[in-house]
Amino acid sequence: MTLRISVIGIGYLGAVHAASMAELGHEVIGLDVDRDRVAALQAGHAPFHEPGFDELLQRGLDSGRLRFTSDYAELADADVHFLGLGTPQLADGMGADLGHLRSAIASLTEVLPARGGAPTLVVGKSTVPAGTSRELAATLEQVDGARLMWNPEFLREGFAVQDTLVPDRLVYGVPSGDEQDERVAMLDAVYAPILERGVTRLVMGYEAAELVKASANAFLATKISFINAVAEMCEATGADVTDVSRALGMDDRIGAKFLRAGLGFGGGCLPKDIRAFLASAEDHGVGDALGFLREVDAVNGRRRTRMVALAEETLGGLEGRRITVLGAAFKPDSDDVRDSPALEVASRLRAAGARVTVTDPEALRTAQRRIPGLCTVPDTQDALRDAELVLLLTEWREYRDLDPVATADLVASPRIIDGRAVLDPQAWREAGWEFRALGRPDSEAPEAPQNPGSSEGPVSSDEAITPGRV
Ligand code: UDX
Repeated sequence: MTLRISVIGIGYLGAVHAASMAELGHEVIGLDVDRDRVAALQAGHAPFHEPGFDELLQRGLDSGRLRFTSDYAELADADVHFLGLGTPQLADGMGADLGHLRSAIASLTEVLPARGGAPTLVVGKSTVPAGTSRELAATLEQVDGARLMWNPEFLREGFAVQDTLVPDRLVYGVPSGDEQDERVAMLDAVYAPILERGVTRLVMGYEAAELVKASANAFLATKISFINAVAEMCEATGADVTDVSRALGMDDRIGAKFLRAGLGFGGGCLPKDIRAFLASAEDHGVGDALGFLREVDAVNGRRRTRMVALAEETLGGLEGRRITVLGAAFKPDSDDVRDSPALEVASRLRAAGARVTVTDPEALRTAQRRIPGLCTVPDTQDALRDAELVLLLTEWREYRDLDPVATADLVASPRIIDGRAVLDPQAWREAGWEFRALGRPDSEAPEAPQNPGSSEGPVSSDEAITPGRV
C-alpha cells in the first residue's frame, strides 16, 4: 500500500528516513525550515557524507516519489507525519532542547484541521526525555483525527541506510486503549516491506519507547567508557587493553562490540544523550540511579586529556612542534565533527602552541567550519611530511593500512601515538618508530605463542579491532 508520508526535519536522521520511505514505495515529502538544505536535497545533493545515501536520494527524486519543501501547507495531504527533528543540548550543558519538536507540533496543528478529521498519524523519531510524547500528544491530539506514536530511531552514522531499511527491531510507543490497534496497523502499513523481512516490532507505552532509546545510547556509552577505564588500569599496570578487550568480548554475555578502547566516543548523539538522560532522571527525582553516567562522561573526557599529555611527554613539550593528526571526524565513514575527540585533541594541541596539521578523507570541510584557521591537508602523504609526531585519532581504513616503512620516510621523526589501538605495535617498532598507544604498553611484552584459530576479519566501525599480537 502506498501511503502519503511527510518527514519534518530533514537533518541527518530525517533525510535518511525520507529517502528510505520513498525506497519502500511511499510518496514522501520532506520539510525543513532551512531552505538551503531543502534546495540541496531537491537538487540531489546530500548535505553530509553517508555511504549509500546519494544513490537512495537520487532514486527517490527520479521516481517522483520524493520531494522537499519548506511550506507546512504542502503537508496537509499526508496520512503519516514523521518527526525527525534534533533535540540539541540545552545551554545548561545537560538537558535536551525540545524547542524544534514543540514548534513542529504547533505548525502541524495549524494545517491538520484541513483534513476534516481524517485519521492522521504523527510519529516521533527523535531521542527525547521520558514524558515528551505525552506532553506533545496533549497538544496534537486536540486536532480531530490526529494521533501520536513514538518510534525511536537507532541508526548509526556510516550505516544509516542499512539501519533504517533493515533495523534490529522496530519499537512502537503507543498508549494502550481503544485506538492502539488502529495506530499500530497504520504504522505497520508504513513499514510493511520491513516487517515482511522478518524484523520484530515491539509495542509498548510512550515512556518505555522513549527509555529504550535513551538507555540504548547510555549502555553503548557505558560499554565504551568501561573498557576505557580498564585502559587506564592497563596503563598503570603495563597490561595491553587490546588483550583484555579481546578476551572479554569472547564471553557471549559481554560481546565484542563497543568494547574498543581508545580516544572514546563523540558525535552528535552519545555525549549529549547521556547528559540528557541524566538530567531527565534528576527531573524525575531519581538522579542517583543514573549518577554513574557522570562517571561515564568523565572517563570519556579523560582519554582526550591523556592523549594531549602523551603527545607532550613524547615530544618533551609542545610549543612550536610539528604534529600531524590523522582523522577529524568523530568516527570513520563520516564527515561529522560534532564533539569529535580527534578534533578536540587537535584543538588543545594548537592552543598549547603546537603546529598541528589535520588530515581526514571526508571531514576537513566540516572541521574547518568548526575551527576556523585550522591547518588541514587533504592528502595523507602530504600531511605526514616533516611531522615530528603523528597521532592516529580516527581509525579510517587508510590510516589502519598505512605502511610503517614507507611512512617513516615521509616524517621528520618516526614517532606515532595510536589513539584508537588499531595499529600493530611490533610492525611499527620494527620499522624504527617510537610507538605509543592509549591503553597499551610502551614496549613489547615477551612474544606470546600464536593461536592459529584467531584470524582477524575485516573491521566494521562497531566491531572489536584487535591488531598486532594475539
Ligand atoms: C550512536 C548509536 O550507535 C546509534 O544507535 C544512535 O542512533 C546514535 O548514536 P553514532 O553516533 O552514529 O550512533 O556512532 P557509533 O557508531 O555509536 O559510535 C559512537 C562513538 O563511539 C564514536 O566516536 C566511536 O568512535 C566510538 N566508539 C564506538 C568507541 O570508541 N569504541 C567502540 O568500541 C565503539
